[in-house]
Amino acid sequence: MNLPRPALLPTFLRELTGTQTLPREPEPDAIMVDEAQVAAFSETGRNESTLAASYLFHTARACQAIQGCKRVVDLGCGPANQLIQIAELNPEIDFIGIDMSQEMLRRAREHVASAGISNVSFETGDITQLTQFEDRSIDGVMSTVSLHHLPTLGHLERCFREISRVLKPGGAVYLADFGRLKSLKSVIFFAYMNQDRDPHQLLLDYERSLRAAFLLSDFERLVSECLPESVKIYNTFKVPLLILLKTEDKSLPRAKVDALNAMRKTLNPRFRHDLDDMRIFFKLGGLKNDIFS
Ligand SMILES: C[S@@+](CC[C@H](N)C(=O)[O-])C[C@H]1O[C@@H](n2cnc3c(N)ncnc32)[C@H](O)[C@@H]1O
Repeated sequence: MNLPRPALLPTFLRELTGTQTLPREPEPDAIMVDEAQVAAFSETGRNESTLAASYLFHTARACQAIQGCKRVVDLGCGPANQLIQIAELNPEIDFIGIDMSQEMLRRAREHVASAGISNVSFETGDITQLTQFEDRSIDGVMSTVSLHHLPTLGHLERCFREISRVLKPGGAVYLADFGRLKSLKSVIFFAYMNQDRDPHQLLLDYERSLRAAFLLSDFERLVSECLPESVKIYNTFKVPLLILLKTEDKSLPRAKVDALNAMRKTLNPRFRHDLDDMRIFFKLGGLKNDIFS
């Protein structure tokens, strides 16, 4: 999710001045079962890649949202690369990853075993029907880049209503996803700007994700209709390429802040630059309490 500053200008202007809305193209495979697709997402995420910056950004932000929770559900956990990073920093929280893809969950279980952590379990399930959970039984719900996989706005609405149902009063929410751009040219720009460093399958996935993204206005309407009032919406400055729906930040213990900053320092400089771009564009979009120094 690299946002190169000068090269971004034409895309930024096109999106700011555009009047059309790009029609939504749902993901060809809502549930990620295709072997090449699963492998690209799963393995690239574990090695150094564009995803590294995004993972660390969401880890830091999600930690702030879920601090103090006992049990957190991750909707559409995929191979659990993101989830494991968050779970390692929050050993006092039990995490349950939900996905409908057996292949993703197989990899997720392998990744948890090799990470040697015991606070993550998995369940096969549909994030629009969280029937395995009682009403008001969960302290926190998170999801990263999975909502755009839902086939229709009706599915997104069902997912949000389920989140509200299972969440305890005052529960934590951290939902991150892409927002739909106005022009196909902008989609292609963002999807392929890292073609020198990322595998083709991952770039293709990114293009499909951006085509399948919901509009910021879809999120705004459904958040106000279906999610608790405590959930606020944030997006990257002016152009909502990335969208966050989240409850308020809690203050983190010093040890977690230090661990997150140490993780930022060890990122390859290219990915640290990507992370800092995400931080800048969200900060300009009104997101406060950045814990990186
Ligand atoms: C792009 S991956 C994101 C994985 C992970 N959250 C991350 O940030 O790396 C999206 C995941 O959502 C899953 N998914 C899509 N629709 C789903 C549904 N209705 N119920 C459960 N999982 C779903 C897919 O199988 C896939 O593993």
